[in-house]
Amino acid sequence: MIEEKKKIVDNFGRPHTYLRISLTDRCNLRCFYCMPEEGIELMEKPNIMSLEEIINLTRIFRDLGVETVRLTGGEPLVRKNFGFLAEELAKLGVTLKITTNGIMLDKYLDLFQKIGLRKISLSLDTLDKAKSVFITKRDYFERILKNLEKALQMDMQVKLNIVLIKGVNDNEINDFIQLTKEKDLTVKFIEFMPFKGNKWDWSKGVGKQEILDTVSGRFGNIEELENPRHSTSSNFKVKGHVGSFAIVSTITNPFCSDCNRIRVTADGKMMNCLFANSETDLLTPLRNGDKMEDLIINAIKTKKYSRDGMDVKMDAEHYEQNRSMISIGG
Ligand code: GTP
Ligand code: 5AD
Ligand code: SF4
Repeated sequence: MIEEKKKIVDNFGRPHTYLRISLTDRCNLRCFYCMPEEGIELMEKPNIMSLEEIINLTRIFRDLGVETVRLTGGEPLVRKNFGFLAEELAKLGVTLKITTNGIMLDKYLDLFQKIGLRKISLSLDTLDKAKSVFITKRDYFERILKNLEKALQMDMQVKLNIVLIKGVNDNEINDFIQLTKEKDLTVKFIEFMPFKGNKWDWSKGVGKQEILDTVSGRFGNIEELENPRHSTSSNFKVKGHVGSFAIVSTITNPFCSDCNRIRVTADGKMMNCLFANSETDLLTPLRNGDKMEDLIINAIKTKKYSRDGMDVKMDAEHYEQNRSMISIGG
């Protein structure tokens, strides 16, 4: 009898085919909603997966049915020898994507084209330079915009990530929508989410309905687009615009029922959910040469249905034990 191929399926019958790997917990920006004010204790080098370990682990996940791999950080492009890693991962035959702040993008666009990495999420919370400096505590605004244009010229599929915070950038929703008039990109509005040390309070957040009301108030007819399977956003378009917009409504309308995502942190811990505060160490057994498949398959069985058990509301006692976003990678 032929043995059925092993797959990563949780207790709710959800096959997990999408892996997000954080390559580093370091970043060249200091966005206040992501990085705690007091900083984080950075991972020590021996505890961080080597490039070879990342490649081996990705191969194991691929053989268990993972089809999509998104590289995250911190900022993934600050990882030493990133180019080599991306080339090797592309050879594994998975769809590669990246989430980046764009500062170093120009250095890698040719490589991305060569290896077929075309899906780029670019964090850009504001179109105003002074505000960008306020949010990121660094001054890279023009460089990021220039790299965005380069990526678009090279026909990359770009999504802009915008974490909306009241009194900071909520007055720019329609400026971002205006960008989609001529530019072939998606602007993705993200509801502010709670993580350890980011002083979350939903009164600072902007919800999906409010975003839709703001856009339709100015642009009128909004077309609802079909959401791809496992999508973590609802997708829309202003009629007549080239680009589209999306809303990640983790707080007001979570989309967990069809979740297919697994995360691995830079120190090799598997997380079943963005909000998971228990993790499975994959790096030690990998270094010991242990068999990994059953460990991964059993780990996913502990996945909760939604938001790591915060099905109804976000609970500070839970999320304050979570990692900071900087070391999860989104
Ligand atoms: P695709 O891979 O194209 O679906 O893009 P993405 O939007 O998932 O990736 P990206 O890294 O750009 O994430 C954008 C925002 O969505 C980030 O703020 C993430 O934290 C959030 N996000 C990504 N994955 C998940 C998830 O599994 N659950 C929740 N709640 N939010 C997520
Ligand atoms: N809430 C929502 N999104 C966040 N990100 C970082 N911190 C938060 C937060 N507290 C997003 C960034 C980045 C992605 C990796 O995660 O916008 O694009
Ligand atoms: Fe999946 Fe957790 Fe995100 Fe829900 S909150 S979509 S369960 S990772």
